[in-house]
Amino acid sequence: MNTKVNIAGVEWKNPVTVASGTFGSGAEYADFVDLNRLGAVTTKGVANVPWAGNPTPRVAETYGGMMNAVGLQNPGIDVFCERDIPFLKKYDTKIIVNVCGRSEEDYCEVVERLADEDVDMLEINISCPNVKEGGIAFGQNPKAAEAITKAVKKYAKQPVIMKLSPNVTSIPEMAKAVEAGGADAVSLINTFTGMKIDIDRKKFVLANRTGGVSGPAIHPIAVRMVYEAAHAVKIPVIGMGGIAKAEDAIEMILAGASAVSVGTANFYNPAVTMEIVDGIEKYMEKYGFENVSDMVGIVE
Ligand SMILES: Cc1cc2nc3c(=O)[nH]c(=O)nc-3n(C[C@H](O)[C@H](O)[C@H](O)COP(=O)(O)O)c2cc1C
Repeated sequence: MNTKVNIAGVEWKNPVTVASGTFGSGAEYADFVDLNRLGAVTTKGVANVPWAGNPTPRVAETYGGMMNAVGLQNPGIDVFCERDIPFLKKYDTKIIVNVCGRSEEDYCEVVERLADEDVDMLEINISCPNVKEGGIAFGQNPKAAEAITKAVKKYAKQPVIMKLSPNVTSIPEMAKAVEAGGADAVSLINTFTGMKIDIDRKKFVLANRTGGVSGPAIHPIAVRMVYEAAHAVKIPVIGMGGIAKAEDAIEMILAGASAVSVGTANFYNPAVTMEIVDGIEKYMEKYGFENVSDMVGIVE
């Protein structure tokens, strides 16, 4: 049985990674998860300079998931390169660096800086609903998404994954736009913009008023969007959104994802990725799949 997958020329030992922002840079999970058993580690978004993030409270529980408006708090690319890359290099897993920015120049600066670093892939977050400038401004307009993809591709030495927002009218249109801009792969979905009100305090629960909804509650919508994206483009699709068990990951793969990312579920079940890696193998054995790639998109 072969669990390896090839994502834009990079071979992962299995199709399982973690969703950006839910796993730090791996260090806080290393006691629960054998990082060597992950296909890749996807890091929290990093910008050219440190970002403080949004005021608190910035996370809340919801039915079947959570809301967050962390606002891409991060220590900046200098600390990331000195601290997080050397930590991850100790493990036999691929490193995907998630990049955020407020402007085209911000994104390009980080991508250029990473060109000389020993990391495997870049994931460009143009889909964060919780920052006012940048992020989503590029992720809701196909022309802007194509332009930012072209811009980062000029500086990128590693394959570029463009991360899409579900807060759009047409996923196929956005996926095609980043493919036209030269993206090597596409990942989706980021969170859905939501709102929660504390009825006793008669106030918004999150200081930011709105936040991104994630977790099992969004899973069926994510599967539909991954299916649509996979049918719209030729580049590989990395599927995420509410994956909490092996069955959810397999569903994404059958819908067309070449690999999957696990996010919110890590918070309440830190070992969930290991269960998913094992569960995919068991499923392959049960149904006689020789390669993971034989499963990708077979539900037409
Ligand atoms: C607390 C939190 C922080 C996140 N931070 C980032 C981030 O820095 N960059 C990014 O691209 N996505 C970020 N996301 C979105 C996730 O990577 C993922 O796309 C989304 O949560 C859906 O997957 P899930 O339902 O499995 O969590 C964050 C999500 C959460 C819950």
